[in-house]
Amino acid sequence: MVHIQVSRNMRIVFVVSIILQLFIACKCQTLPNFIKKCRFGDSKCIIESMNAVIKRYPRGLAAMGMKPIDNVDIKDSEIWNNAEVGGVWFKFKLFNQVNYGFENATITRIKGFGRDPTASTMEIHGRIPSLIHKGSYIANGRVWLIALNATGESTSDFQNLRFVLKLKVIPEYRNNKRYLKIYELVPIVNISRWIVWLDTLFPENMDLTITLNEVLNANWLEFWNELEPAFLSVFSSVFTGMIEDIFHKISYDDMFLKDNETEINY
Ligand SMILES: *[C@@H]1O[C@H](CO)[C@@H](O)[C@H](O)[C@H]1NC(C)=O
Ligand SMILES: *[C@@H]1O[C@H](CO)[C@@H](O)[C@H](O)[C@H]1NC(C)=O
Ligand SMILES: *[C@@H]1O[C@H](CO)[C@@H](O)[C@H](O)[C@H]1NC(C)=O
Ligand SMILES: *[C@@H]1O[C@H](CO)[C@@H](O)[C@H](O)[C@H]1NC(C)=O
Repeated sequence: MVHIQVSRNMRIVFVVSIILQLFIACKCQTLPNFIKKCRFGDSKCIIESMNAVIKRYPRGLAAMGMKPIDNVDIKDSEIWNNAEVGGVWFKFKLFNQVNYGFENATITRIKGFGRDPTASTMEIHGRIPSLIHKGSYIANGRVWLIALNATGESTSDFQNLRFVLKLKVIPEYRNNKRYLKIYELVPIVNISRWIVWLDTLFPENMDLTITLNEVLNANWLEFWNELEPAFLSVFSSVFTGMIEDIFHKISYDDMFLKDNETEINY
């Protein structure tokens, strides 16, 4: 009995000390010490460290300004404006949008994380096996001469999504440390397939709803090409939102080992 009591107290002490550590890390605005630091420009090490953070903290990590990535809200957007493919024409607006799947991202390549982050464009390359996007939609238009005026729920699965983010940053000095501000983030995105389902397109006619969804899925590449610019601007704001808070909270200098420092493994 006594033994159990002690171990429970120990556990409480342990938990409290972790919380304190997080709090202190947060106050000091340095990289929490359980995150592996690398040398400037050591791409292999930086990729490993980024992937470890993505894997271990899908719900985010406030101590380093990282928001949850397993559940990413996005701003309302008018995605589909005057897209016309195969007799289908619609205006499409999305709201209450959320993305799932960023937590399964793998960073595959980076560029430009050297001592001087402004020396060249920074690049982050990665892959997401399946990015699920859900939202409510409003659609107006015409489909094979039939008027379309619908609202409902939209679900998309962007399969094998590969991305390259090109970032341009400017340093801002606080306490003699460089904090990076993103002034441009350009995403390039490829997918292997887009599976989409829009429910209640024709509330009175389920067959027509299914047929139109089949047309969208059979012609997904044409629709993707049509919509890509709109999606890229959504991706740009999502990725900017993910990265800018980290850059704001942790100085670029504190993300890396000092020259006289060696890595400590926790
Ligand atoms: C992320 O990966 C896990 C494990 O493979 C899987 O269970 C989950 O469905 C994936 N999430 C998404 C949104 O695909
Ligand atoms: C679409 O439907 C909404 C309500 O369901 C209605 O207020 C609106 O006037 C309709 N628009 C068109 C173009 O028919
Ligand atoms: C997308 O695919 C094109 C052609 O297959 C390729 O050149 C490009 O590098 C790919 N981009 C990404 C982000 O994977
Ligand atoms: C390492 O260098 C930093 C300055 O770059 C200095 O503040 C710190 O005291 C040095 N630490 C050791 C152990 O020499």
